[in-house]
Amino acid sequence: MERMLNIALPKGRLGDKVYKMFEAAGFPCPEILETNRKLTFENPEAGVRYFWVKPSDVPVYVERGAADIGVAGKDILMEYQPDVYELLDLKTGKCRMISAAPDGYRDDPQRTLRVATKYAGIARRYYASTGREIDIIHLNGSIEIAPILGLSDVIVDITETGTTLRENDLRIIDTLAEISARLIANRSAFRFRQEMIERVMKGLSAQAEVET
Ligand code: PRP
Repeated sequence: MERMLNIALPKGRLGDKVYKMFEAAGFPCPEILETNRKLTFENPEAGVRYFWVKPSDVPVYVERGAADIGVAGKDILMEYQPDVYELLDLKTGKCRMISAAPDGYRDDPQRTLRVATKYAGIARRYYASTGREIDIIHLNGSIEIAPILGLSDVIVDITETGTTLRENDLRIIDTLAEISARLIANRSAFRFRQEMIERVMKGLSAQAEVET
């Protein structure tokens, strides 16, 4: 029998949603919803083994082949630029990558811009493309606080509903990218497990249409 397809899912709210898409696509593994500490689950009949990993680690597992396929946000893929195939836009987990500053902020192009972000690579490339000199302040969360406390001039972060920006009196300056969850595949797995991966892709693409 063919070995099971290893699938890395991002642990958290997005992962739960995405698992349900796999389930509806014909690759169920109901045990996954019953526990919250176990990290791997398999359904030999459906030919799949799922595991939960930290969202930003999904590309690491897939790039190195520990997972054949996985689901990662476009933000994570833009930041780490892993050497994987991006197969499908799952059209869920939609948000935007933006730059923002406190209400009333006036930029002084003569000064180095202080940018607080979790996405140092994205911010660096974006400001390089605009020719702006910046100083990256790398934070791991609650980015919106940085300009309020004068730690940075602006932030680069994702926004979904806009509530966090609004409640912290920040205003969007620019949209850097539209983000959503993507199905990715290890390059050699895609070659050797093509038939199975294409079956998964086909099922998920029908589900992605439901999302839009
Ligand atoms: C994300 C993001 C924003 C917030 C945006 O943070 O970094 O802070 O969600 O969502 P909204 O536009 O719907 O308000 P997350 O909840 O992942 O936590 P973090 O502060 O640890 O990054």
